[in-house]
Amino acid sequence: MKIQNMYELNKVQIVQAAQVLTDSLPVGWPTFDDALAEIEELLNDPQNTLLAAVEDDTVIGWGGILPQYKGNVFELHPLAVRSDRRRKGIGRAILEALEEEARKRGGLTMRVGADDEVGDGETSFANTDLYDDLPGKILNFCPGTHQSGFYMKLGYKIIGVVPDANGPGKPDIYLGKRLY
Ligand SMILES: CC(C)(COP(=O)(O)OP(=O)(O)OC[C@H]1O[C@@H](n2cnc3c(N)ncnc32)[C@H](O)[C@@H]1OP(=O)(O)O)[C@@H](O)C(=O)NCCC(=O)NCCS
Repeated sequence: MKIQNMYELNKVQIVQAAQVLTDSLPVGWPTFDDALAEIEELLNDPQNTLLAAVEDDTVIGWGGILPQYKGNVFELHPLAVRSDRRRKGIGRAILEALEEEARKRGGLTMRVGADDEVGDGETSFANTDLYDDLPGKILNFCPGTHQSGFYMKLGYKIIGVVPDANGPGKPDIYLGKRLY
């Protein structure tokens, strides 16, 4: 497996990346065309860095970073690994390569918004009153099956929350990591 800049990918590989995105995050990108449009838009802005994990010429995961706050902060958007290739260190490899890229560009903070919106909610933030003792709830946060568990493994901490971002009881969870 190698990590490759997505500007170097051919059309077939861009299609593979779009398929991974719509399969992995169908709430955000319900159709293949939505996912393809997202990739094209991200690739259109040279400020973004997009990296793909490529195995035998096939894209099995990818992620992007977008500069914010005059380049002090980079937002991870999105990150997805093909479902049959998860839990094999590929997400970590992509994210660490993106962090390194952000660091090289002078980034101080990496951030990601992770919606807790699937089903009845996966984390301990789901269906609770986040206006009541949020510090206590952050202290006792439990990711359950949610992807925030992955980010926490990689050293990310909860830096904020947007209550009801995806409907009642379905928050967006902000995670961040210091890059220096
Ligand atoms: C989140 C995602 C990118 C992780 O990719 P991955 O390739 O499976 O992750 P890795 O194998 O590199 O995992 C790195 C570590 O995190 C752990 N981990 C992975 N997913 C996890 C989860 N959901 N909860 C808790 N820990 C998790 C792994 O066990 C591994 O731990 P280890 O180093 O102790 O062995 C992948 O599950 C995915 O594409 N999910 C669907 C899309 C998504 O939710 N994207 C993020 C949107 S914010």
